[in-house]
Amino acid sequence: MSEPLLAVDSLKVRFSSRTGILSQLFGEERYVRAVDGVSFRLERGEILGLAGESGCGKSTLSFTILRHYQPCEGRVAFDGIDVFSLAKKDLKAFRKSVQLIFQDPYQSLNPRFTVFRCVAEPLFIHGIRDQRETRDRAVSALRSSGLLPPEDFLRRYPHELSGGQRQRVAIARAIVLNPSLLVADEPVSMLDVSVRAGILNLFREFAKSGRVGILYVSHDLGTIRYICDRVAIMYLGRIVEIGPTAEVMQNPSHPYTRALIDSVPEIEPGVGRKDPELLEKFIEDTAPLHGCRFQRRCPLRKDECFVHEPDPVRIGREHEVACHLYRTRSDAS
Ligand SMILES: Nc1ncnc2c1ncn2[C@@H]1O[C@H](COP(=O)(O)OP(=O)(O)OP(=O)(O)O)[C@@H](O)[C@H]1O
Ligand SMILES: [Mg+2]
Repeated sequence: MSEPLLAVDSLKVRFSSRTGILSQLFGEERYVRAVDGVSFRLERGEILGLAGESGCGKSTLSFTILRHYQPCEGRVAFDGIDVFSLAKKDLKAFRKSVQLIFQDPYQSLNPRFTVFRCVAEPLFIHGIRDQRETRDRAVSALRSSGLLPPEDFLRRYPHELSGGQRQRVAIARAIVLNPSLLVADEPVSMLDVSVRAGILNLFREFAKSGRVGILYVSHDLGTIRYICDRVAIMYLGRIVEIGPTAEVMQNPSHPYTRALIDSVPEIEPGVGRKDPELLEKFIEDTAPLHGCRFQRRCPLRKDECFVHEPDPVRIGREHEVACHLYRTRSDAS
């Protein structure tokens, strides 16, 4: 069997949260467990959505996959190779193959560069300097990103473009090296609703080509339902539910997933907000030391939830949920 494009296993990332000098010298070491044991697979041709409320660790997980953060435990394998022990030449290939698309295209585009330079820069960095080739590849990436005719955009500057056009330039820059993994962190949340669908359709087309896998990070279940084949729901650093998007949306099984879906009335016509306060009561930023991390907010909690952290249980072909409401057969016997 061939290796998955991306395999994340029991990944943990933590940040030190000591602040003042005195606490740094004498205080006990304290950590934010931003990613706290995450595992999933992503294949070429697939879009996996990663959803969850602010601060649950979505960006930390994405940046760690791209090697911006070092995990304290666990493994990220790209095409079967551990990304934290890459040899120098493999590291270069990895940097070509994995690209990030940010929420804010202003952050990823240098305002002093023309569109051509913004898009061609990754080629220069990777030693591709032939004028003809760089121009052709930039034009082709702009075309694939829906900027038509691409030649009209080459000499313009980012400030001369609309927000949607800028994000398309950022996407052209991300695909110019023909990556096989795209990590898109809230790529449409700053865009007008009218241009969102166009950008989302681009992602669908990229995935349909079968060459690219996309990790699509968002707290917007509407856009996730629109483009993602599977969705992973994160809560305080852990995936609490993962499965095919349609199945998770129609049959949300973790109480947190249910609350998330109930808080978006338009996602299933006719479904009202059952317990809108559940998500609004308070936002947690630390997991309890023992038991399920959703225990303080869960309407269905039982004694066990304060003792053991639930392991993921398979409840459908590709559908898993980490909640004590669901038991494996061996647990039940
Ligand atoms: N560089 C950092 N140093 C210290 N703590 C950090 C750092 N980056 C993130 N954190 C903390 O890690 C946790 C997860 O943050 P992260 O940015 O991954 O969340 P997120 O799910 O992407 O949120 P949002 O939806 O708001 O973008 C938060 O508690 C955050 O404060
Ligand atoms: Mg984020």
